[in-house]
Amino acid sequence: MSAVPHHIAIVMDGNGRWATRRYLPRVAGHKMGVDALRACVRHCGDRGVKVLTVFAFSSENWNRPADEVSGLMELLAIALSREVPQLKAEGVRIHFVGDRSKLPAKVKTGLSQAEAATAANTRLVLNVCFNYGGRWDMAQAAARLADEGKPINEATLSAAMALAHVPDPDLVIRTGGEQRISNFLLWQAAYSELYFSDKLWPEFNTAALDAAIADFARRERRFGKTSEQLTPAAVSKKAA
Ligand code: IPE
Ligand code: IPE
Ligand code: MG
Repeated sequence: MSAVPHHIAIVMDGNGRWATRRYLPRVAGHKMGVDALRACVRHCGDRGVKVLTVFAFSSENWNRPADEVSGLMELLAIALSREVPQLKAEGVRIHFVGDRSKLPAKVKTGLSQAEAATAANTRLVLNVCFNYGGRWDMAQAAARLADEGKPINEATLSAAMALAHVPDPDLVIRTGGEQRISNFLLWQAAYSELYFSDKLWPEFNTAALDAAIADFARRERRFGKTSEQLTPAAVSKKAA
């Protein structure tokens, strides 16, 4: 098994607390969060990670105060116009994952343009989960299969899910100290290694990411088998 995860998924949590501790508005924390994400994307590319999936706005985040929600929509629009040329130049292919139907028209257009502009890139896939929820994803996949009169089983559901274009995450990181999944990749994280960091997302720098990757390299992923089945000795014995 490779020491570097092929696919890392991150719950970027802690922006609000980062700002509040500095007597700043919460949106200032989200702005710093964009900076942290930019550095993280670059570092993942350098480390040979092929897919990075980040949770940027959950289906439950609509329940936040209106000014924070509109601040986040604005920030997404600004980030799209500022970051996409650079992402394009760095070989990053961007996908937006989530329910777009309720997003402002301007944002929706920006998402499609960003995806089209980077569609030919192959160095790193960046999935930005925005207005995403794991339950939404499973429900939309099942509804689509039912509409099309197709059978519902693990393979067809996987293929209908919003992240069907990438393999499941090897490593799921959550910053900000909470140890919960908060409706992130409920289906896809079935066998992901979990890593929790007390660092707030704006503080999660390249050294912190390297620490998470190093921790992952020490894990034994058994996928239901026994440890003995995974050792080369057991494999060669069986083959003999
Ligand atoms: C995560 O940071 C980003 C979003 C949910 C948009 P938070 O805003 O949840 O930060 P905390 O958890 O309040 O510190
Ligand atoms: C999860 O963070 C969602 C994102 C990071 C976008 P939250 O801050 O919304 O999670 P809960 O509600 O505290 O679990
Ligand atoms: Mg939070």
